[in-house]
Amino acid sequence: MSLHPSLQPAAQLLGTWRGAGRGEYPTIEDFEYVEELTFTDVGKPFLGYSQRTWSPDGMPMHVETGYLRIPSESRMELILAQPTGQTELAEGELRVSSEGCSAELHSQVVNSASAKQVEATIRWLELTGDTLTTRFSMAAVGISMAHHLESVLSRK
Ligand code: HEM
Repeated sequence: MSLHPSLQPAAQLLGTWRGAGRGEYPTIEDFEYVEELTFTDVGKPFLGYSQRTWSPDGMPMHVETGYLRIPSESRMELILAQPTGQTELAEGELRVSSEGCSAELHSQVVNSASAKQVEATIRWLELTGDTLTTRFSMAAVGISMAHHLESVLSRK
């Protein structure tokens, strides 16, 4: 099964990535986590995406799933579902270089009535060689855009 041509700019992301992360937000205690991300080719013009996280002592933390699309050579879209009641449509520029690729994705968020209210998010993905760095900021629970997460992952 060959990768759909539209996904070629994101081909380097395929596979499973694992590593450590740190989180913070003005309203909560700082925390650490272990993260695993998987980008899967399903033979269609999108990749499957899933993320799982655990506390350093192995307790399950945040998870999310979705799809990655490359609607044009320099654009990336992540369509995400959060079990905490938010959905995100994250879109932005994809830059590909000889060493890897990077993207800055700005999200529209839809919150369920019972969810903690998230107004907007920004996600950064930066792949250099076999190291994938992720960063995440959000405007949520009455706070303007602020850093929440950063992780550094290696190819598994
Ligand atoms: C709060 C972890 C991703 C939105 C928290 C807290 C932790 C945490 C430990 C504080 C305790 C709690 O309320 O559960 C993580 C981890 C993530 C992640 C490990 C993934 C690596 C996200 C994402 C969103 C999000 C993707 C939004 C779409 C929030 C909100 C709060 C929160 C709104 C509540 C802040 C408050 O009530 O003051 N997160 N989170 N988190 N997180 Fe995350």
